[in-house]
Amino acid sequence: MTIRPLDMERDRIAARRIWQEVGWISAAQADKIDPYITAGNAWVAEVGGEAECLVCTAPGTMRYQRTDLQASFVTGVTVSRVARKQGLAGRVLARALQQDAEQGSLISLLGMFEQGYYNRLGYGTGGYVHRVALDASMLDAGPDARPPVRLTPADAERMHALRVRRYRAHGGCVLTASVLTKGDVNDEDNGFGLGYTRPGSDELTHFVWCVAKNVESGPYRAMVCFEELSQLKELLALLGSLGDQVRVINLIEPPGVQLEDLVRKPIRTRHVTYKSEFETGNRASVYWQARILDLPRCVAAANLRGDAVRFNLDLADPIEAFTEPGSSWRGVGGSYRVELGPESRCEAGSDAGLPTLTASVGAFTRLWLGVRPATGLAVTDQLSGPPELLDALDDALRLPPPTPDWDF
Ligand SMILES: CC(C)(COP(=O)(O)OP(=O)(O)OC[C@H]1O[C@@H](n2cnc3c(N)ncnc32)[C@H](O)[C@@H]1OP(=O)(O)O)[C@@H](O)C(=O)NCCC(=O)NCCS
Repeated sequence: MTIRPLDMERDRIAARRIWQEVGWISAAQADKIDPYITAGNAWVAEVGGEAECLVCTAPGTMRYQRTDLQASFVTGVTVSRVARKQGLAGRVLARALQQDAEQGSLISLLGMFEQGYYNRLGYGTGGYVHRVALDASMLDAGPDARPPVRLTPADAERMHALRVRRYRAHGGCVLTASVLTKGDVNDEDNGFGLGYTRPGSDELTHFVWCVAKNVESGPYRAMVCFEELSQLKELLALLGSLGDQVRVINLIEPPGVQLEDLVRKPIRTRHVTYKSEFETGNRASVYWQARILDLPRCVAAANLRGDAVRFNLDLADPIEAFTEPGSSWRGVGGSYRVELGPESRCEAGSDAGLPTLTASVGAFTRLWLGVRPATGLAVTDQLSGPPELLDALDDALRLPPPTPDWDF
């Protein structure tokens, strides 16, 4: 078995076969894999002369507080039917992460198929995402929306340009390659967009992209994108203007707002539509996980109010077991002196006078991101320390909920 970068010429057919075998593409639309293998780095495991495992990552950024950190997004981990359960996926992912860490990514994020698998590679689970199903006719978003312009998949570059510079809060992600937005908007039947441009220009300021199996009545699945949070109201008013016809619109709640503030009688509607095709409500679930790739630079990004908290960190990184002995990156496990405060820092070593926090890299990533406070993680995840240290970390790490706001 050899792990090596994907060679487009040599591996194209095998890569498509892997994605067909896992059911992600059909033979008729095999080129749907292309955005993923061209967006960033792709690695394969070759078994008997054929690529049988494929891992793709894509470059981007994740906003931490107000700073954009270089990030790597794992967009596919796949093993063909003839090579499962041989440890290929974990080893190829570890090799891909080594490359991305060496190319400057501070953090890796992915959409998980299930909790547990990527925990073995150091990932920790992200925060809940709210998927809100609204009765379009009950939207009460303020003044009427202005007439929008129509958008089609041919406008993917313009839409991507806005996605890259859109309003983002803590945890907000951008995948930089426009082929991925092209793939997203080309992927679904009946997709259409409505948007607004800057006066005198065709540059988009805010838009909504909708897909629907049933165009006549919905539900519509909508993605909203805007430069400023205030523009969200015009997009919601626009969606509300479809409410004479469309019963339900589903969207992921944007960061910083509570969508039901702009909905009339959400509780009554939820009861009336219960278990129907047009059920409304708000479902919290989590699809994403993250792990730190560069601990000192991630810690240094934290700009926290209040007194600094100083502690030793005893960090376990299970990815080490998936890397080759002697390779230049084997995860971030080790002993560190950490200071979290207005000027945060982290360096190798320990100080006998400081309390010690013991954590897996996944649990520490969750703490640093603000997914959950230290006292909660100490109960449910691999993180422990003296009660006074956990309380001090709870006080220091008062961050908004991290919200990727990008379905990767
Ligand atoms: C997921 C997938 C990539 C794993 O590939 P693989 O090479 O067989 O995986 P590995 O050999 O590295 O790991 C398998 C191990 O993970 C374990 N595992 C699987 N799911 C797990 C979970 N949710 N929690 C904990 N462990 C899990 C298995 O039990 C197995 O353990 P074992 O080695 O002790 O038997 C493969 O099943 C696949 O291609 N699935 C379809 C595509 C997909 O969903 N990809 C993931 C997208 S996010």
